Amino acid sequence: MTCSILVGGGWGDEGKGKCITYLCYNDKPDIIARAGVGPNAGHSVEFHGEKYALRMIPSGFVHTGAKLLIGAGVLVDPEVFMHEIDYLNKYNVKGRTFADYRCAIIEKKHKKQDQASDYLSKTIGSTGTGCGPANAARVMRVAKLAGEIEEMSFYTTNVPAEVNRALDENKNVFIEGSQGFGLSLYYGTYPYVTSKDTTASSAASDVGVGPTRIDDVIVVFKSYITRVGAGPFRTEMSEEKAEKMGLEEYGTVTGRRRRIGLFDMELAAESCMINGATQIALTCVDRLYPECERVKDYSKLSVEIKRFVDEIEGETGVPVTIISTGPDLEDTIDLRDEIL
Ligand code: GTP
Ligand code: IMP
Ligand code: MG
Repeated sequence: MTCSILVGGGWGDEGKGKCITYLCYNDKPDIIARAGVGPNAGHSVEFHGEKYALRMIPSGFVHTGAKLLIGAGVLVDPEVFMHEIDYLNKYNVKGRTFADYRCAIIEKKHKKQDQASDYLSKTIGSTGTGCGPANAARVMRVAKLAGEIEEMSFYTTNVPAEVNRALDENKNVFIEGSQGFGLSLYYGTYPYVTSKDTTASSAASDVGVGPTRIDDVIVVFKSYITRVGAGPFRTEMSEEKAEKMGLEEYGTVTGRRRRIGLFDMELAAESCMINGATQIALTCVDRLYPECERVKDYSKLSVEIKRFVDEIEGETGVPVTIISTGPDLEDTIDLRDEIL
């Protein structure tokens, strides 16, 4: 039995979607449970040449044998949820996707408040998806819960009961976080953060698993850093330099241009410490070092890339076990056997 948590180590968009797809497709956990804030997330999944952008349903959906759960700590927007149930129809997500009956619901008024607030939309650079106002409503104890609304009646369950029972039966559970360490309400660059903590401990709490049951914490870093929205960014580079390096990116949810910077060893070390990382997944190595595009074998990486990986391991004290060299799940170097 293994219970793993995967979280972002930067300001989100580290390529969690790709790593989750790879790990779930290969390891075939019985349950894949979504933690994190809510539909402000945009996870990209590329599977057998097809691209999917997801905001609510767990990115591990490609493993069709898994139950897909959404933990009570995650905000549910019923419109986004229903849309994704239809969108992923060919993966038979209906009948195996359930949200905890205690998930707070994002209502239209929350989205309006998010978008109408100059402070949130302009100063902080919120995604406008209603997450902040819905979390505020939950704290004020006025939010509606998934178990109380008609649209979700077919799709609710008791997530902690299911997850803990699976662990009791020696099954495997994979918990996927969203956003990233730098956006944590507690440990990120406050006030330029999201509306809750985004570290591994909160991910466990989101789905109702106690800290003693977690075996592995995989923290995902991109080989450079991106950030959408406002806030400090120590290693940021100019747009011109990012273009010259071929690193422009646009957001999955908002379409906004992402700010780009170099890898930040200090941020990585802090992120690994607070998340209790046991493994690092390093993505988009091919975008920084194009010669390694789609490479699947560690020995074929250049000395320069190996030195970069060694430096990350040295600074964080955590082994890099997954190296991603392209968006498709096949473009992956898996070194997990070497640390066992
Ligand atoms: P958030 O929940 O928003 O943090 O989502 P995310 O971590 O899944 O990242 P997102 O999908 O927003 O952005 C990452 C982008 O990089 C996507 O377009 C992925 O398809 C792509 N990607 C992921 N890994 C790699 C990789 O190793 N190489 C390349 N070239 N692209 C990658
Ligand atoms: P909110 O969570 O929509 O309120 O946005 C607050 C801040 O977090 C803004 O800077 C957003 O750009 C950022 N943010 C929230 N979710 C994500 C994500 O999934 N990826 C990247 N940035 C995010
Ligand atoms: Mg994203």
